[in-house]
Amino acid sequence: MGPYITEVEEAGNRVIKCNLGEPDFALPKHIREEVKRGIDADLTHYCDPQGILPLREAIARDVGNKRNLKITPDRVVVFPGAKPPIGFCQQTYCDPGDEIVYPSPGFPIYESFIPYIDGTPRPLHLREEAGFAFTGEELEPLITNRTKLVYINFPSNPTGGVATKDQLDGIAQVINKKLPSEARIYSDEVYENILFDGSVHNSIASAPEMAERTIIVSGVSKTYSWTGGRVGWAIFPTAEEAQIFKNLNINYFSCVPAYNQMGAKVAIESPESAVEIERMVKAFQERRDRMLELLLRIPDITCPKPQGAFYLMPDWQAYLGRHCGAWEIQTSIDLAAYFLEEAHVAVVPGVGFRAPEHLRFSYASSIERIEEGMRRVREAAAKLE
Ligand SMILES: Cc1ncc(COP(=O)(O)O)c(C=O)c1O
Repeated sequence: MGPYITEVEEAGNRVIKCNLGEPDFALPKHIREEVKRGIDADLTHYCDPQGILPLREAIARDVGNKRNLKITPDRVVVFPGAKPPIGFCQQTYCDPGDEIVYPSPGFPIYESFIPYIDGTPRPLHLREEAGFAFTGEELEPLITNRTKLVYINFPSNPTGGVATKDQLDGIAQVINKKLPSEARIYSDEVYENILFDGSVHNSIASAPEMAERTIIVSGVSKTYSWTGGRVGWAIFPTAEEAQIFKNLNINYFSCVPAYNQMGAKVAIESPESAVEIERMVKAFQERRDRMLELLLRIPDITCPKPQGAFYLMPDWQAYLGRHCGAWEIQTSIDLAAYFLEEAHVAVVPGVGFRAPEHLRFSYASSIERIEEGMRRVREAAAKLE
């Protein structure tokens, strides 16, 4: 959407951006100060390709405490964000023809990497009626003796879906029963701290016998509103596996800047972070409620109330086939283009997430902008016949 939005803006329009996949808050001050301190302390050279030890220790403690697991720092690998391990895991665990299960709609990178390693995609279709979560029964038919990786992402991008602890336990039972022992579960938990209505984060790694086969992934981008920091991490089931990824890091990018890693350590350990996270989550919850309320005033669309992340995923099926002047709305891409050009509101078409009848609305924006954006969308939608 980026260049398209720029084009519409350069024509003199003020676009309301409901397309963004990053929190719109400033980096909290205590983290910012630590990064500056790190630069002043000359942490500006190459460092440990696996991630500096103080950060790996902090991650091991924090991830372990929150999931009731014992994790040692030699199982932790730091990456430039939570994105690189997605593809690295496919390169590492999968041979050509091996099967990879991933949520659909889901974060596009799980799927887009598969052709590169000649893997076989096995999308797990998530249902809107089920709040875009899934059960063990839904996973079971997709697992074969060629399955090597199963991606799980709760809270989810693009749907905000969250699985309950019971659902995760059910998924774990199916995995224990059917998944070959060398296969891995990739639990993408980057939205772990953005949860609403008092819900707490559950990780599949905490379910019985799952720790031995789960890769837990998270990072600073969403929790601390720090997408530009490029610090993410994965905890592997064994130190031997972690070494493989350390080697990939050496080959691809050497290391993640040490001053940002020190910032990440402070972000994880400082009590000030909990206050900042609570403030952000409270704002997101208010925005979710307001955006959902306004969206549901638009006739003929449906949208579940998500329990996490910062996205709404309304279904616009009823609008496909409608028209207005020269606009013929056949797909969610047409609809997103129509809203951008006619209402000057940017949203993401569902096609890229494999949800062709949906649009993703991000509420990483102020209440005022959300209200103005939803007014414009409602008016533009009403013109479609
Ligand atoms: C589900 C999911 N996983 C991973 C990432 C990657 O995050 P980063 O590389 O910024 O840590 C994102 C970013 O949008 C995401 O939505």
